Amino acid sequence: MKDILILGIESSCDETSVAIVKNGREVLSNVINSQIKIHEEYGGVVPEIASRCHTEVINGVMKEALKEAKVSLDDIDAIAVTQGPGLVGALLVGVSYAKGLSYVTKKPLISVNHIEGHIAGNYITHKDLKPPFLCLIISGGHTHLVRVKDYTEFEILGKTRDDAIGEAFDKVARVVGLGYPGGPKVDNLAKEGKENIKLPEAHFDGYDFSFSGIKTAVINLNHKDPNINKADLCASFEKAVTDMLLENVEKAVDNFNEDKIVIAGGVSRNSYIRNAFDNFAKKKNINVYYPEPILCTDNAAMIAAAGYNNFKNGEIAELNLNAVPNLKIGE
Ligand code: KG4
Ligand code: ZN
Repeated sequence: MKDILILGIESSCDETSVAIVKNGREVLSNVINSQIKIHEEYGGVVPEIASRCHTEVINGVMKEALKEAKVSLDDIDAIAVTQGPGLVGALLVGVSYAKGLSYVTKKPLISVNHIEGHIAGNYITHKDLKPPFLCLIISGGHTHLVRVKDYTEFEILGKTRDDAIGEAFDKVARVVGLGYPGGPKVDNLAKEGKENIKLPEAHFDGYDFSFSGIKTAVINLNHKDPNINKADLCASFEKAVTDMLLENVEKAVDNFNEDKIVIAGGVSRNSYIRNAFDNFAKKKNINVYYPEPILCTDNAAMIAAAGYNNFKNGEIAELNLNAVPNLKIGE
């Protein structure tokens, strides 16, 4: 069978990335231009600055991706791009660029849902991973529990009713003075702390999540006692959010008899969460999968991998494709 090369483009938030992926599983290149250093100064992503940065670097990132993969545009079978969800101005840069590229090269255009991209990152890390499985997507913008029934078939079981889990990590980091992006910093400091501070956990009958209550509790505790032990606060925060994640995942594993859990998104880098899910999987005698660290946070290889699945499914986009900032999974 002929190899299929997908060029993937990602610009939904603060990473401009272009990747070339073979047969949906093998990364030939995955160039990521992160704007973290630029947004750090403001304590978070500034949408207007993000769009401008994407515009400035996207062409260079694309050229570098082709060069690293040692291929030319002629060798590419299709162009996959993140259509949403994300920041509209940021998404528009990638979508417009992809449409232009598709028009000039006459290669098919494929639209990719960013969250489905996060899921697909796991197909790269785990060459034998196949649906069906249960997937928990935990990132800066999203917290979803999804049944992946097939490569392009998804059923959302639950999602956050307010903040995404990564947002809560970033906020906690900010209030305890760790800076942006906070997730990795909370992860490190928590290792020195004890889980001895009681924090509120949200529980629902179904599979939804909520992280605004715990976020506010951490802000208030820190405000009331500025000398509170920051490491203990981080460790207690990690334990509480992990309990909430595990509770819903366990419900779904039991109700649907799932034997594979796949974790995806930036927060899946977290060492406490990984350790807790490893233990949970052992206890339940099921398998748990995570992407390699570079494929957890935003990158275009995961977009190309998801694009490959859409391409195989005959899902070709029109050249009037538009960015959709609140695109739902499975749309
Ligand atoms: O998937 P991603 O790059 O962006 C979205 O699609 O939203 O995720 C970024 C998020 C940020 O909130 C960041 O703080 C968090 O992932 N993150 C972590 C860790 N590494 C990144 N959170 C907790 N522990 C980590 N080690
Ligand atoms: Zn993401």
